[in-house]
Amino acid sequence: MIKGKPFVKWAGGKRQIIEKLLEYVPADFDTYYEPFVGGGALLFELSPKKAVINDYNKELINVYNVLCNENKFKKMCNVLNGYEANHSEEFYYEIRNKDRNKASFNRLSDYTRAGRTIYLNKSCFNGLYRVNSKNEFNVPFGKKAKVNTYDGENLITVSNYLTMNDVKILSVDFEEAVKDAKKEDFIYFDPPYDSDTTTFNSYTEYGFGKEEQKKLAKVYKKLADKGCYVMLSNHNTSLINELYKDFNIHVIEAKRNINANGKKRGKVEEVIITNY
Ligand SMILES: C[S@@+](CC[C@H](N)C(=O)[O-])C[C@H]1O[C@@H](n2cnc3c(N)ncnc32)[C@H](O)[C@@H]1O
Repeated sequence: MIKGKPFVKWAGGKRQIIEKLLEYVPADFDTYYEPFVGGGALLFELSPKKAVINDYNKELINVYNVLCNENKFKKMCNVLNGYEANHSEEFYYEIRNKDRNKASFNRLSDYTRAGRTIYLNKSCFNGLYRVNSKNEFNVPFGKKAKVNTYDGENLITVSNYLTMNDVKILSVDFEEAVKDAKKEDFIYFDPPYDSDTTTFNSYTEYGFGKEEQKKLAKVYKKLADKGCYVMLSNHNTSLINELYKDFNIHVIEAKRNINANGKKRGKVEEVIITNY
């Protein structure tokens, strides 16, 4: 089976540690849940027949939805072809700033918005998705003279996977996304990272601080008590060690590429936490 790959570069994307993650995936499970799906590295790697995927980022989830409709998918590719042909710094800011006027932004078709999300991801600085408290995309231009926004074959593979299987796509808070999970289901949580100092967590206008990490740990425990297989990745911080001390904490080394300060790129310790 040909597997899809993430169609966006996503902060915290799991492509680099996919082999490590696979070591901890249970051999057998019922429905797969990924409530912080982002670019979907593990989702596509596993390509499960029954899945519930979710992300609070509405623009990202809109792309997944557009890929599920053949007609809209084609129109999105046409939008992207046009954007690639017009690509320049000025054009980038023109597209980026479309979300400054909410009324006209909301009138854009879903496939145009999906094209915008992919185009910005491929041409902004470092492939970051960052919004301010008004939910305005605020990453500067990435200074690429040319952009290649999509791999058509991969998008078809992704689209086929999403439409030919039982995949439910949601955009709600993580707690809501897993509320129907039952015994034998497998839930993989890949939340925005905790940090002992500071870290990037502006994927959505709401951010993700210590309180959310604590709320997530309660949800994790509830699912574990229900008999679900629960796996979570995060940084190896003091808070995470405290919150998950009753579970299995596996420390691994990961290379991180998304950091505004190039000098800080490098190895950081991550943990994979399981209840099995
Ligand atoms: C570390 S990233 C996931 C990366 C993903 N595993 C990958 O391979 O690309 C975390 C994701 O959580 C989403 N997110 C942030 N707060 C959330 C919330 N309260 N509920 C659901 N998703 C949220 C962000 O939009 C972001 O896409």
